[in-house]
Amino acid sequence: MQQKEESSPKISRQSLREAFKIFEFLKPYRWQFIAGLVLLFLSSTVFMIFPYSVGLMLDVAQGKETAFDLDLSKIGLGLLVVLVFQGIVSYTRVLLFAQISERGTADIRNALYQRIISLPIVFFEKSRVGDIVSRLTNDVEKLYNTFYFVLAEFFRQVILLIGGVIFLAWQTPKLAGVMLLTFPIIVIGAMIFGRYIRKLSKQRQAILAETNTILDETLQSIHAVKAFTNEIFETKRYGQSNASVIDVSLKFASGRALFAVFIITVLFGALFFVIWTGMRMVQTGEVTAGQLISFVTFTAVIGAAIAGLGNFYSELIGAVGATERIREILATPSETEERPKATAPAGRLNGNIEFKDVQFSYPTRSDVPVLKNVNISIESGKKVAIVGQSGAGKSTIMQLLLQFHHLDGGSISIDGKDIYDYELHSYRNNFAIVPQEVILFGGTIRENILYGKPDATEAEIIEAAKQANTWDFISTFPEGLETVVGERGIKLSGGQRQRIAIARAILRNPSILLLDEATSSLDAESEKVVQEALHNLMKNRTSIIIAHRLATIREVDCIYVLEGGHIVEKGTHEELSALFDGAYSSLAKLQFEIA
Ligand SMILES: Nc1ncnc2c1ncn2[C@@H]1O[C@H](COP(=O)(O)OP(=O)(O)O)[C@@H](O)[C@H]1O
Ligand SMILES: [Mg+2]
Repeated sequence: MQQKEESSPKISRQSLREAFKIFEFLKPYRWQFIAGLVLLFLSSTVFMIFPYSVGLMLDVAQGKETAFDLDLSKIGLGLLVVLVFQGIVSYTRVLLFAQISERGTADIRNALYQRIISLPIVFFEKSRVGDIVSRLTNDVEKLYNTFYFVLAEFFRQVILLIGGVIFLAWQTPKLAGVMLLTFPIIVIGAMIFGRYIRKLSKQRQAILAETNTILDETLQSIHAVKAFTNEIFETKRYGQSNASVIDVSLKFASGRALFAVFIITVLFGALFFVIWTGMRMVQTGEVTAGQLISFVTFTAVIGAAIAGLGNFYSELIGAVGATERIREILATPSETEERPKATAPAGRLNGNIEFKDVQFSYPTRSDVPVLKNVNISIESGKKVAIVGQSGAGKSTIMQLLLQFHHLDGGSISIDGKDIYDYELHSYRNNFAIVPQEVILFGGTIRENILYGKPDATEAEIIEAAKQANTWDFISTFPEGLETVVGERGIKLSGGQRQRIAIARAILRNPSILLLDEATSSLDAESEKVVQEALHNLMKNRTSIIIAHRLATIREVDCIYVLEGGHIVEKGTHEELSALFDGAYSSLAKLQFEIA
């Protein structure tokens, strides 16, 4: 979806059909919408009383007989009534369309958010999130404008156009005939002429660009030009190119001059011709002076309507493009829709994890295999560490466990069942992850801890906070749990954020715990407190620990060493340390040297 930048100016029948589907969002407000259209129709037709009454008043002023014995004060009073009516109708109409567009676009925004947040991770990796947000904001804004006034204005101009033509055909049919025979031909002529001129203008641009290329190229490779003594050759080439610019430019100029003449003589000529015909008809008494004035005023209204239609038409095309992009996102399958067969409720898993010949590469870089053949076997309740160089694929293993991506080969099973067979939501409920960089949400400490279990009781929150070693510092804050952590948690130190994340995980009480370098970015002192908190958290659950500092994983049941997409060693700390020249002992040696 990110390839399509701006909507193309052409509309196909298919895209129109697509665009109409956006009206589904207006369905709940269809009665308001219809009422708005009726009011719009009323106010637009009533508006036509004004150009009509200009002529009528002139006739009355000249003492002509009219229907209902009208005099100027009666007409003035009538116009006043119409004005007030017009005001009330327009007010109600604008309010109605405002309500519809506000509510309709809010619905679209909600639907989009709900969809986007449920899309697979790969969607976010393929497109920059900022781009998605800004483009969608733009598109929704376009639809808002469409619902709010573009559609209404478009309809109004259509009504004025049709109504105006009908009125003229009824009041002054002969004059209307003369006008309708003259003007469309001129408009079409002007359009063709315009296109010809635009073509010439483009040609001129192209040749000018070519000329500048010669200038650019030769100046940049001035050494080559001089070394080959091609100064004269290049000067000639530049001169020729310049000469052809003049040729096209002059053609372009004469086209524009002709167009100006065309507008002045033909367009105004036609206008005067129509007025002249009208005057003759006034002279012969075929039409009254008032009717001629009405005619001219109406013609102006119709002309303005045609001009307006062009503008609103291009806005509508923009809205069609926006609709397509929005619908495209709404139609993208969500994580759960992608796997309709995964329905087995996971319940509370025991946490017997089995990686079998797992192969994986990220969809955005599918030519780079990250895991080539990974076998890991973890018994329920055991603690397992994964170590390896940065970039070895350790975090990837956790992402795969969380089902952020699909495997290229092999399988991962938990409690004897392929993980992709579990219903996703109940499956992920079994996990909690404490990452290296904890980013908190902008609210209070309480809200951030509750993120692990939104319905936890006060006692549970405090217990979790204590176990995570957060209670000491929380209770020193004057506002306690209600302390606002600031955007992304910047008001807290790294270690404090880490411990809040641990409290969150404790509250969640997962059956499988993932620690991705949870203490790597902490100083020695905070690491000790966090380690203690982690110790509480890991009790009695299957835990996978990625650790940068090997000292922190001495106690685990098994250590896997990941290298080049394979597990190259596995065993306890003692077993692996005993392997002289093994991958683990060289990692350990490296750390010892750095430290
Ligand atoms: N979202 C991603 N898209 C593409 N490549 C990725 C992505 N995440 C990680 N990688 C690449 O996959 C490899 C393993 O990354 P990772 O699992 O984060 O390593 P580790 O956690 O062991 O440092 C690296 O080469 C990294 O560049
Ligand atoms: Mg990592």
